[in-house]
Amino acid sequence: MELNIAVLSGDGIGPEVTNQAIKALNAIALEFNHNFKFKTADVGAVAIDNCNDPLPKDTLSLCKTSDAILFGAIGHPKYDNNPSAKVRPEQGLLKLRKELGLYANIRPVKAYQTLLDKSPLKKHIIEGTDISIYRELTGGIYFGEKYLSEDENVASDLCMYSREEIERITHLAFKAAQNRRRKVTLVDKANVLESSRLWRKVVTEVAKDYKDVELDFLFVDNAAMQMILNPKQFDVVLTENMFGDIISDEASVIGGSIGLLASASVGDKYAMFEPIHGSFPQATGKDIANPIASILSAAMLLEHFELFNEAKLIRMAVEKSLKLDITTPDINTKYDNITTSRVGEFIEDFILNPNDTNMN
Ligand code: IPM
Ligand code: MN
Repeated sequence: MELNIAVLSGDGIGPEVTNQAIKALNAIALEFNHNFKFKTADVGAVAIDNCNDPLPKDTLSLCKTSDAILFGAIGHPKYDNNPSAKVRPEQGLLKLRKELGLYANIRPVKAYQTLLDKSPLKKHIIEGTDISIYRELTGGIYFGEKYLSEDENVASDLCMYSREEIERITHLAFKAAQNRRRKVTLVDKANVLESSRLWRKVVTEVAKDYKDVELDFLFVDNAAMQMILNPKQFDVVLTENMFGDIISDEASVIGGSIGLLASASVGDKYAMFEPIHGSFPQATGKDIANPIASILSAAMLLEHFELFNEAKLIRMAVEKSLKLDITTPDINTKYDNITTSRVGEFIEDFILNPNDTNMN
């Protein structure tokens, strides 16, 4: 298969981790005779530095002419510490999601058998957890009208949703559940928010098309508690933009590190694959960031194009690296010197020589 992949590695550790995903994809191309072409473009703080625009026109048009996008990370402390900055790196990512219509962000959360003791949560609580979070990505409070009074003492962000925005991701969530354990949990705040009441109404209606799937509701505050009290109860979690952002960072504790969580952002036309972690500025350039989220995002990219054996090989390589403790310091308690690039090389070697069990 020929695939043109736009690489937007972005800020902080973005380039370091994305490079490892590219290594893995190149190894897959070699092993399975595919032709993957990569083109890079700026986004985020780097793009602001280079052309004062967090999403330059050329970057957007590259994305629109590519088959898929591999995204790194976004954000820089100089903006975090300056809340009044008008141009911000995050705007690049948000605009990209909006312009490309990437309305569904799928975030798998899983407790790896070999990492059960890495989570601060008890083993019996997390063992067997396998959740797929469906986060709405182009609506809600992230994109509603913003207001700041002239004296800058009053501000607001509007949370708005339309029936259509809710319906389209709900169909995806229910279809996913049909291939899983057939349960969808809608996370909302319908006891307080009008927008959440619309979610409940629309999701309940859509659910009638999927009689084989059980639909459950949880208020977000309770869901936040249930996520670490009893995560095994969840199969597909469906939720709006901001609740999904928060709940998925929380859920990353189950896996042992946020550096393991990959995601796919999909719409009707385009697809982008991005780790859920941020730009981790403290680690930038140190070769210590966990590249697994980026590598697993590459696996999700392959699955998107139905290259299931290819994706499976990446996942096998990842599991092997976890088993052998070829992992970065965030999850490594055995060795303290395994770098980002070392993990990437291990995964690459495994893909090229899957039967060579003595490779390390
Ligand atoms: C994420 C990130 C982004 C978000 C930021 C960087 C805008 O936290 O992908 O989860 O809030 O969506
Ligand atoms: Mn987030």
